[in-house]
Amino acid sequence: MKEIKILALVGSLRATSSNHVVVKHLARLAPDEVDFQVYDGMGKLPLFDDSETTPPAVQDLRDKLSAADGILICTPEYAFGVPGALKNALDWTVSSAELVNKPVALITASTGGEKAHAALLYILEALSARVADDARLLISFIRAKLKNGEVSDGDTLRALNTVLTAIIREARLSKAEASSHH
Ligand SMILES: Cc1cc2nc3c(=O)[nH]c(=O)nc-3n(C[C@H](O)[C@H](O)[C@H](O)COP(=O)(O)O)c2cc1C
Repeated sequence: MKEIKILALVGSLRATSSNHVVVKHLARLAPDEVDFQVYDGMGKLPLFDDSETTPPAVQDLRDKLSAADGILICTPEYAFGVPGALKNALDWTVSSAELVNKPVALITASTGGEKAHAALLYILEALSARVADDARLLISFIRAKLKNGEVSDGDTLRALNTVLTAIIREARLSKAEASSHH
């Protein structure tokens, strides 16, 4: 029985994306009791338009976020900012509030990535998400830390382990809190 659900949102839509390599590594590393899914609708979400109606793809995203006990965001930086696809997905959750009090882990895996990482921490604060200190990781020079489609750098492997442990801990805690309130 899978006790804990983690949903990963990846900010790169590239087929051979380093961020997907990182997320695949985490999915393999996740213990048996964790249902680790990668959201696959990022590239097909309509652009946020602040309308009253909810497109089906947006409802699907919101349902998946609600069902998850923890969210893991893994993203590059584009032009010193947050990739548009990821920002668009997050904007769709502002009024529906799926990320309010939700445990979120943030991994920015990029060439540099400092600015997108900092911007995302502000965005997650705006969304009232819970981002534990040990669930934040900036991996700069990401491409040098991969080999043959796998994470190969020792320090990066250790840091990823720490983030995964942190988000599972936070997700478990939040799930226990929710069940004690009902
Ligand atoms: C349009 C574009 C803009 C980029 N701008 C930045 C940037 O501002 N900062 C940075 O750290 N990397 C930047 N990069 C490099 C990405 O970090 C690098 O391509 C990374 O591998 C992308 O993640 P992915 O492998 O998961 O697709 C940029 C890449 C592209 C394609």
